Amino acid sequence: MKIDLRSDTVTKPTEEMLRAMAEAEVGDDVYREDPTANRLETIAAEILGKEAALFVTSGTQGNQVAVLTHCVNGDEVIAEADSHIFYYEGGAMSALAGVQTRTLVGERGALRAEEVEKAIRGNNIHFPRTKLICLENTHNRAGGAVISVAQMKSVYNIAQKHGIPVHLDGARLFNAAVAQGVAVSELSAFADTVQICLSKGLSAPVGSILAGDRAFIEEARWWRKKLGGGLRQVGYLAAPGIIALTQMTGRLAEDHDRAQQLAKGLRQLSLQVEQVETNIVLVNTGSIGLTAVALLERLEEKGVLAVDFDEYVIRFTTHRHISDQHIKTVLEAVEQLLETV
Ligand SMILES: Cc1ncc(COP(=O)(O)O)c(C=O)c1O
Repeated sequence: MKIDLRSDTVTKPTEEMLRAMAEAEVGDDVYREDPTANRLETIAAEILGKEAALFVTSGTQGNQVAVLTHCVNGDEVIAEADSHIFYYEGGAMSALAGVQTRTLVGERGALRAEEVEKAIRGNNIHFPRTKLICLENTHNRAGGAVISVAQMKSVYNIAQKHGIPVHLDGARLFNAAVAQGVAVSELSAFADTVQICLSKGLSAPVGSILAGDRAFIEEARWWRKKLGGGLRQVGYLAAPGIIALTQMTGRLAEDHDRAQQLAKGLRQLSLQVEQVETNIVLVNTGSIGLTAVALLERLEEKGVLAVDFDEYVIRFTTHRHISDQHIKTVLEAVEQLLETV
């Protein structure tokens, strides 16, 4: 069996989740008659401190439904240059919502409030209208970087001043909350709408949540249906989502701890490792004269999987199926491999 550090998305549902799926009480959710989906949405809204929430099939669907609901064709969206919504969603913002993106380079993924304010368009016949500001927490391409409550607040204050909503891609928002020792609602308070993934470190097999005020979620429900996201007996998928939200968030600290162990061990082997704050470890392969792909091939031969993030950067992600022993085995494999380069 390979040690799979490609992503926390590889986590499989727990036994309890599988039982909850089999036993879920279901109905037709397009008629809003699925009690389990309704319960998941109520629980999610409460945890995130929002009026309402909607189950969506994926993080990408949640983010794109948010953009479609916030914007019309020709609007401009401000997003971090390496944000998932801009970098990894197949150009969906422009393809589906017809918006253009104004990217700003953040500091470890965090947008600077003063730069956001400068980028907001004034009232000029030549300009598009700035209609949305997107944040990401934790920030994936910045290596699972945590955006602090203060950073979130500073951007939100500027957004409020200009009457522009903030959407938070919180695919790993619980990692950000656990790492800072705050409630997740302390972070989502500084966004009008938030997307969280149930299917990453929280181990549910499918799904995300989009939360916001009631009127927004009603409109988002309509967009979700247009995208084919109106599911029928979706309670079978919502049931593990309830367990994800109510029982799986605390254990993320273990993933963070193992990411630190991995980073420490890799640094002891003289590898250049980025700052680690949550469950993602970025390693620069340039110093050993190998491209990311070349190192990944050698790692795979030794039974270890990770992903390339750039020509000379690989990403390891810890999750529920990675134990302390796995970290030791990975470090031994890297040590052996370095002897041959
Ligand atoms: C920060 C971030 N946002 C959104 C997504 C999209 O989630 P999904 O794969 O469920 O579409 C991901 C997935 O890796 C992500 O890392």
